[in-house]
Amino acid sequence: MKVFLFISSVSLFLGTWALPSQSDVPEDEERIVGGNTTTIEHFPYIAQLYRASSFWCGSCIISPIWVLTAGHCTYQQSIHNVTLRVGASETNQTARTPITLARIYIHPLYNATTVDYDISILRLNKSLTFGRRVAAIALPPANVVLPAGTIATIAGWGSLAYLGNAPTQLQTVTVPIITNQECARRYAGSNETWVFDRNLCAGYDQGGKDACNGDSGGPLTVRGVLYGLVSSGTGCADPRYPGTYTNVSSVRSYIKSVTGL
Ligand SMILES: *[C@@H]1O[C@H](CO)[C@@H](O)[C@H](O)[C@H]1NC(C)=O
Ligand SMILES: *[C@@H]1O[C@H](CO)[C@@H](O)[C@H](O)[C@H]1NC(C)=O
Ligand SMILES: *[C@@H]1O[C@H](CO)[C@@H](O)[C@H](O)[C@H]1NC(C)=O
Ligand SMILES: *[C@@H]1O[C@H](CO)[C@@H](O)[C@H](O)[C@H]1NC(C)=O
Ligand SMILES: *[C@@H]1O[C@H](CO)[C@@H](O)[C@H](O)[C@H]1NC(C)=O
Ligand SMILES: *[C@@H]1O[C@H](CO)[C@@H](O)[C@H](O)[C@H]1NC(C)=O
Ligand SMILES: *[C@@H]1O[C@H](CO)[C@@H](O)[C@H](O)[C@H]1NC(C)=O
Repeated sequence: MKVFLFISSVSLFLGTWALPSQSDVPEDEERIVGGNTTTIEHFPYIAQLYRASSFWCGSCIISPIWVLTAGHCTYQQSIHNVTLRVGASETNQTARTPITLARIYIHPLYNATTVDYDISILRLNKSLTFGRRVAAIALPPANVVLPAGTIATIAGWGSLAYLGNAPTQLQTVTVPIITNQECARRYAGSNETWVFDRNLCAGYDQGGKDACNGDSGGPLTVRGVLYGLVSSGTGCADPRYPGTYTNVSSVRSYIKSVTGL
């Protein structure tokens, strides 16, 4: 498994990963990777997920009481250990009161080895008050196929480069969708990143722009609709390996069955 969690927190697995050699890591990638600093007003639907008081993942507000994140962000986590912060451009704003959870619904088919069905639905303990910095993102209909080349927007507080530092300020970048067939071809034979119908993939042939560790669970949007959740990938912004996302449209009926939305 090669999910976009912070490396340090999963260092247990480092021994079995094929870590790129220094020469494999592109040198000029310094920023999500390749993006720009932005503010929460541009992404009022992105929330910060904390585990045991440390910033851990991104997440996406879909109603005043429901939030989506990646399955691997809450796998084996207790609701008492996971909190959210909303309406902030920066991480680690400990002055803000954390929002507690009432329940975590990890997809019943979530597979911790292959990271298939990588979605968790969080029910908040208390309704959010919406405003300029806190709002819901629209969900797509079921079974939409995004055409290759569609430009999507991603955002998060993850590392600025593979094995690099995490920013405190929210970052954003745009990436083109590639077909699942092409994505599966790129990952054929990989033993750390899998591509299923429950995924979509995005990235440039030349690499350089991507999600990275710490961006997991955050949004991939197209024209203001949430089509993806940051999930996995090999390296970050590597021209050989696109980023993989939970394909929200393909798990739409599960979201509906839990939330009614
Ligand atoms: C909370 O998370 C920390 C950090 O991973 C872990 O050590 C601890 O066991 C967790 N506690 C619970 C109740 O899950
Ligand atoms: C601040 O955020 C970083 C990741 O962005 C995390 O590693 C660190 O534990 C956080 N500190 C606190 C106090 O939450
Ligand atoms: C949820 O809220 C109730 C009532 O305010 C509180 O008793 C409970 O501890 C909260 N749950 C969590 C996980 O914080
Ligand atoms: C996860 O997927 C692997 C590979 O397909 C399979 O061998 C394993 O049984 C699955 N695990 C669960 C819990 O379904
Ligand atoms: C997303 O999921 C649908 C099935 O719901 C699948 O047909 C499609 O190939 C997936 N990927 C993209 C990029 O739409
Ligand atoms: C970053 O900002 C620059 C300057 O405003 C802009 O030209 C560029 O398109 C932006 N890049 C992204 C990925 O949004
Ligand atoms: C995955 O593949 C790499 C390179 O092919 C290999 O070195 C590594 O041992 C494999 N890991 C597992 C868990 O099979």
